[in-house]
Amino acid sequence: MPGLTIGDTIPDLELETTHGKIRIHDYVGDGYAIIFSHPGDFTPVCTTELGKMAAYAPEFEKRGVKLLGLSCDGVHSHKEWIKDIEAYTPGSHVTYPIAADPNRNVIKQLNMVDPDEKDSSGNQMPSRALHIVGPDKKVKLSFLYPSSTGRNMDEVVRVVDSLQKAAKHKVATPANWKPGEKVVISPSVSTEEAKRIFPQGFEVADLPSKKDYLRFTNV
Ligand code: BEZ
Repeated sequence: MPGLTIGDTIPDLELETTHGKIRIHDYVGDGYAIIFSHPGDFTPVCTTELGKMAAYAPEFEKRGVKLLGLSCDGVHSHKEWIKDIEAYTPGSHVTYPIAADPNRNVIKQLNMVDPDEKDSSGNQMPSRALHIVGPDKKVKLSFLYPSSTGRNMDEVVRVVDSLQKAAKHKVATPANWKPGEKVVISPSVSTEEAKRIFPQGFEVADLPSKKDYLRFTNV
């Protein structure tokens, strides 16, 4: 069976977390949520990632995005580990819940299993997976990183901004886009419609094909 991917509804699992039991759909509510997994507690890259997520939490809150971490160890271990995470990243407070998954049921259903990592008992381990779930409970974007590569939280914020802009306007964001820069008008929008829905105007790139598909505007 192919794993959970963009466009799929996230399974409405009940999770054991550092904030008690959480059902994924209730947690997402009417906003967005980021569910991100880590190979294990008390591991170096994960400690830096969870601290950075905590430091960036106000940025996600501003955008109506809730955070939900996951590491396969138990809740008691997570609570002990949080002390290290906060000490390592000064000023960070891990205010988001961290789910446990000792039986690996959750990581299997959320396509978060690392095919190459096993713990000392041969159990499967989570990869560095991250799903951004929208108000319709569908996966809008996923990252799948191996345990050796820590994620860039600036990139996570950037893609949230892109997703939310595309959800609000008929636009997409070009390569290396940053908030404040021009966006492109979606290919499904005709020139006539573009004139109507983008009264601020748009610029068409002059391409050798003379096709007018690369149109930039500000929204
Ligand atoms: C880490 O978080 O540093 C890590 C965890 C599992 C395997 C490799 C690295």
